[in-house]
Amino acid sequence: MSAPTTPPAPGPGAAAVLTGVGSWLPPRRVTNEELCTRLDSSDQWIRERIGIHERRRADEAVSTGDMSVEAGRRAMRSAGVDTVDAVVLATTTPDHHCPATAPAVAHRLGLSGAVAFDITAGCAGFVHAAAVAAGLIAAGSARRVLVVGAETMSAIIDPDDRATAPLFGDGAGAVVLEAGTPGGDGTLGPFAWGSDGSLGDAIEIPAGGARERHRRHSAPPADFFVHMRGNEVFRHAVRRMTRAARDAVAAAGWTLDEVDRLVVHQANGRIGACVADALGIPAERTPSNIDRVGNTAAASVPLLLAHAADEGRLKPGHRVLVVAFGSGLAWAATTLVWPPGITAEL
Ligand code: UT7
Repeated sequence: MSAPTTPPAPGPGAAAVLTGVGSWLPPRRVTNEELCTRLDSSDQWIRERIGIHERRRADEAVSTGDMSVEAGRRAMRSAGVDTVDAVVLATTTPDHHCPATAPAVAHRLGLSGAVAFDITAGCAGFVHAAAVAAGLIAAGSARRVLVVGAETMSAIIDPDDRATAPLFGDGAGAVVLEAGTPGGDGTLGPFAWGSDGSLGDAIEIPAGGARERHRRHSAPPADFFVHMRGNEVFRHAVRRMTRAARDAVAAAGWTLDEVDRLVVHQANGRIGACVADALGIPAERTPSNIDRVGNTAAASVPLLLAHAADEGRLKPGHRVLVVAFGSGLAWAATTLVWPPGITAEL
């Protein structure tokens, strides 16, 4: 079934159908060699242990909101629409603590008046945002939603911390979801998602928030950047994504050998490989772009959807399993059959 061009009237029970995909990357490429001019690391270590060759970095005049506008505009063009009812923006790097970034993005896209809010679930944020958007559609509260994942990770990563600096990159991706008939191609869900706040400090920015406001003038500069216990996070990422992926596949009524494409958060090439291996999904069914863009946190999944669609690695009829994991800890997975007629706008 093709995606609807005229969504049905909003009403309880409508499905969220993917009708457009877009992305935007800052033009500036940062190679491993360039990073290692100030970092005690090597191109070989980063390629072998993370799978990244280069990542993009937004220059200081470009913010998460700017990248969201670019990706959002492209997703709407891909869907062939010029308006939406809601903008849901997943990010760990909002333009400001207050207000949320989404209302300004909506305004700049000519969508003033639309419901617009941010979601924070780390690298799992985009799949959370998609689940919330699907809920808005199912409840009849919106019939067309722009879901964006965008990050300026360079704003919160210590360039001198070799545990995080090689890993992260900047960028944005977006999709349009529209009300449609349950069970048709492009329908997202069900979702398998959850959190474990007992491990919140495994990836955190210690200072700068309400909890540590007593240290706002005394905390060392490094405490305003991301601190991560990488090895521990690695193990949880594999375990949680494998479990969420299995649950999402079961909830969809599929079996794992029916999955044509695994779209896994580009956390680390080895993490993606471990998840695919644990699920028994061959590497050729697991598209990846981490070598070119790094770990772009909440932007990772929509960027990969856009790139894989553009490269013909996502084809109409493919059964696609999407899974992500990040700070919180938080994780989320869902499924869709890739719909016909989608041209990604990069
Ligand atoms: O996006 C969602 C959240 N984030 C993630 O999912 C990231 C998860 N974690 C990771 O991707 C990996 O843990 C890292 C890439 C962060 C680190 O890789 P690792 O293989 O887990 O390294 P490690 O922390 O176990 O360290 C192994 C060794 C250590 O040396 P010794 O103690 O064995 O001598 C580190 O000091 O590698 C050293 N090391 C490095 N060496 C060169 C750590 N980082 C670097 C580096 N360059 N950048």
